[in-house]
Amino acid sequence: MQGIANTSVFITGGCGDIGLAVAKRFLAAGARVVLADLLPVAKGNVIARSLHPDAAAYVRCDVTRAASVDRAFATALKFLGRLDTVICNAGMVANEPFIGITEKNWTHTLAVNVTGSFVTAQRAARILLKNPRRGNARRGTILFTGSWVQEMPWPGGAAYCTSKGGQQMLAKVVAQELAPHGITAALVAPGMVYAGLTKKIYDRDKRFAKIVDKTVPLLRMSTAEEVAGSFLFLASDDGAYITGTTLLVDGGAMLGRRD
Ligand SMILES: NC(=O)c1ccc[n+]([C@@H]2O[C@H](COP(=O)([O-])OP(=O)(O)OC[C@H]3O[C@@H](n4cnc5c(N)ncnc54)[C@H](O)[C@@H]3O)[C@@H](O)[C@H]2O)c1
Repeated sequence: MQGIANTSVFITGGCGDIGLAVAKRFLAAGARVVLADLLPVAKGNVIARSLHPDAAAYVRCDVTRAASVDRAFATALKFLGRLDTVICNAGMVANEPFIGITEKNWTHTLAVNVTGSFVTAQRAARILLKNPRRGNARRGTILFTGSWVQEMPWPGGAAYCTSKGGQQMLAKVVAQELAPHGITAALVAPGMVYAGLTKKIYDRDKRFAKIVDKTVPLLRMSTAEEVAGSFLFLASDDGAYITGTTLLVDGGAMLGRRD
């Protein structure tokens, strides 16, 4: 894809399954990538080096803490030199029936998925606005890992679905406000990915696995790799006129099944 080589990418939740798959795609296309995640620096460095000896780096970053995000961007910029694409991908899920959901899980889910996306996107925008603007070219793009449940309730997902719905609206507002300044924003919304917590639950919970298998018209979950290319597309020259929208990568899950 045109427009990825020699660009600089910052990915929160970069050491998770989807984050790593996305990082690999950008690195393969010639970008420099910083993975931002909760792991201690020594562990994160090992992961970054295993991806690429000199085009990948790790910074520790807790997206629920603004000071941590500020420090992460400052360190990342020393490695990257500039910033072109920021991916708000850090996320967590703790499904519980609505009637019993604890305030702790509710608050933490919103803190990571919504407030974490807000802080990351806001800090990213402040940096991207400093990029010089050449003609109609973008200053940069801010992408979010949404979810098909941002618009579709899932049993036990009060906190998670609400957080992803909030994140979707955040992305739209960011897109609207920053478009005149040459910054685009969009979401990639996966469906069921055999990755992260979903993978763990699928492997241990037969009932969940049965529901998942029945829900997706393509009759299977996606891999993290099948989701990753959409981020590349939105960040590439081909995605430069796309803003405020969601690219749904859900195997038809939103369509439902009628058989
Ligand atoms: N796996 C799925 O089926 C699926 C489906 C749709 C959307 N998503 C979304 O994809 C994104 C990535 O999830 P994944 O499936 O790769 O799961 P994952 O658990 O493998 O990755 C999530 C990453 O986010 C990091 N993280 C959590 N809290 C953080 C914090 N406070 N600060 C910084 N990093 C933090 C974790 O350490 C982890 O590395 C999430 O936003 C998730 O909601 C996943």
